[in-house]
This record gives sequence, structure tokens and C-alpha cells, in this order.
Amino acid sequence: MTVPIRALSAFGFSMRANGRLPARGREIISNMAELRFPAPPLADDVVLLRPWREADAPATFLAFSDPVVQRFSWPQPTPDSEEDTRQYFAELEAARLLGEELNLALVPPGDTGPVLGGGSLYDVRPEQGCASVGYWLSPGARGRGVATHAVRLLARWTFAELGLARLELTCSTDNEASQRVARRCGFAREGVLRSHVPGQDGRRDAVVYSLLPGELR
Ligand SMILES: CC(C)(COP(=O)(O)OP(=O)(O)OC[C@H]1O[C@@H](n2cnc3c(N)ncnc32)[C@H](O)[C@@H]1OP(=O)(O)O)[C@@H](O)C(=O)NCCC(=O)NCCS
Repeated sequence: MTVPIRALSAFGFSMRANGRLPARGREIISNMAELRFPAPPLADDVVLLRPWREADAPATFLAFSDPVVQRFSWPQPTPDSEEDTRQYFAELEAARLLGEELNLALVPPGDTGPVLGGGSLYDVRPEQGCASVGYWLSPGARGRGVATHAVRLLARWTFAELGLARLELTCSTDNEASQRVARRCGFAREGVLRSHVPGQDGRRDAVVYSLLPGELR
């Protein structure tokens, strides 16, 4: 089964060059909107964020089959084979080239071990100065701050390098671990989006958080 990126992420996107943009945002649009990978890669003493590789497919497919990832990350069925997972990576790359998303593998510092999870900027709207951040971890990588560190690195880079003015984080109302990550990074809770996305057991409400430059903790 092929899972289109639109179905996995349920992200909307529009790229209109008619808004007032910060200088970096104008530069992105005039450059055909490709989102370049951070160079050097974003990293600290807990996690490194790098492009996905085909060799990551087995570990990623395994992580996608975790019930907690299935419950909270995807509104639609996840890839059901390693081959599907490679196709998924190809779709993520296509979205990057369109300037819609930047998806990165989370690995140990120094890229010394298997994939811990994924982190992304999605729904990137330079004309509005906004983007959203998303993440997931394999079960064995949880409970040691990997997601928090990855979000901090991504957020800092987004404000500094893309010149965006607002970062959004949306998660299910019952996803306590994810909301803890949001609050630890300094995101402010804004409210509930009712019946926000289709889930595997019906439509789900979501909590929306936002982070503005200067609020990152
Ligand atoms: C969300 C996720 C990335 C967080 O992983 P993590 O960084 O390892 O987070 P932790 O396991 O350390 O938990 C973070 C906090 O939530 C708390 N927490 C974890 N599971 C919890 C639960 N089921 N109920 C309540 N609190 C919980 C932890 O105690 C911790 O609290 P602290 O900040 O006081 O230390 C991880 O749980 C995950 O991958 N979940 C599945 C996919 C997903 O939900 N992605 C996000 C979609 S919005």
C-alpha cells in the first residue's frame, strides 16, 4: 500500500507571494521555495537531526508499528512494509523540494546509532511567517528528552534561519507526553481545535500550541 504524504500528515499548504515577508521569507520564495537542510546538521549532546536515508527504513517501519505512534501520529494507516517506508521517505523529499516540509531523522549525537525518531517542520508558510513542528520517537528512545531537544533545535533554526515569526505545535488532547514536550520548550497553549483530524477511531480533537521568537526555553 502506498501512503501519500498528504494522507499521512494531513497538512495544508499554500505558497502565495502576496504577503509582507521578512527578508529571509522573500529569499525562500524567490529560490523556488526549496527548504535546504540545516548545515551543519542541528545537534546537541542528546540528539542529531539529519536527512533520512533508505537504510533507515527497517527501524522506521518498526517504529511506525508501535501502537502509541499509530494512535497519536497518523490520521491514516501507516506504511505497511519497508518498501512503503522508502516510498514515504521519497515523498518527504519531494515535499522538501517544494518548500512544504523539512523532515529529519533523529539519531544519537555523532550519528553513531540507529534512528531514534523523526522531527519535522511542516505546513511551512513563509508568506505568513508560520510553520508547524511535529515529532515521534521509537519506544526505546522515549523518556530521556530526545523530543524536547529536537524541538528546541528545530525551533531555534526556524526563527534564526527561516526568519519565521510563529511556530505551531498541534497534538491530540489526550497526548500528555507530547504536550509536556511543548510546554518544556516554552510553547503557549492556545486552545482546542474540535474534530481536527480523522483518527483511526473517529475524528479527534487537538490542542494547538504556539511559540514566538524569544519564548523558546
Ligand atoms: C510524544 C513523544 C515524542 C514524547 O517523547 P519523550 O521526549 O521521550 O517524552 P517523555 O517520555 O520523556 O515524556 C515527556 C513528559 O510527559 C510525561 N508523560 C509521558 N507519557 C505520559 C503519559 N502517558 N501520561 C502523562 N504524562 C506522560 C513524562 O513523564 C514527561 O514528563 P516530564 O516533562 O515532567 O519529565 C513520545 O511519547 C512519542 O513518540 N509518542 C508517540 C508519537 C507522538 O505522540 N508524537 C507526537 C504527536 S503530536
